[in-house]
Amino acid sequence: MMNPKELAGKRAVAFVESGMVLGLGSGSTAYYAIREIGRLLKDGALRDIVGIPTSRETERLARELGIPLTTLQEHPCIALTIDGADEVDPQGNLIKGGGGALLHEKIVARASEREIIVVDESKLVPFLGSHFLLPVEVIPFGWNICARELERLGCQPTLRRGVQGPYITDEENYILDCIIPPAAELAPLEKEINNIPGVVENGLFLGYTSLVIVGSPEGTRTLSL
Ligand code: 5RP
Repeated sequence: MMNPKELAGKRAVAFVESGMVLGLGSGSTAYYAIREIGRLLKDGALRDIVGIPTSRETERLARELGIPLTTLQEHPCIALTIDGADEVDPQGNLIKGGGGALLHEKIVARASEREIIVVDESKLVPFLGSHFLLPVEVIPFGWNICARELERLGCQPTLRRGVQGPYITDEENYILDCIIPPAAELAPLEKEINNIPGVVENGLFLGYTSLVIVGSPEGTRTLSL
């Protein structure tokens, strides 16, 4: 049986062209896209690609595969980013950050002309928050005050745990996993959360998605948004 994440990840690479600046997403689905880009570069089927990784893990993988890397300072405009998601609603809005990389992922998404999201069918939901908690990245100083404010918004935050103590992001912050309050409007909620002092970013990605590629054991399909 074919792996749906692998099918979706590889399918997205059909949109990559030589000479592009690419955003390299994080997680187990983006992984397959990055591996395929590495393979095509090695074969010579793709040339002159530079990648901007969205996490340390992706950076390691890209280096291993020999994908040339760059920074947002050198290349502030990204032609195409391929990334995964934890939930996708029918409009292509996302929850991201299950892997803890939401901050860099959101900056890269903002800098991208096209954002292709690769998922398996389990990620498709009728509304965000159906299965997955919303990650909110906060600085460690006064994180409990952020938690108190999120509680006031009805988000019931839980501090994400790592192996020893709190989970630490690539920017050395904490993550509070939150519920999306029933009947909350997403755009105002995103702003309200980010307005709390100490909150760095949250995992709501509203209006960033250009295309969703969904993998299933039978193959792939794209979502029209
Ligand atoms: C990391 C993310 C990932 O894109 C998301 O968790 C999806 O991962 P996977 O493809 O492994 O299911 O947002 O911060």
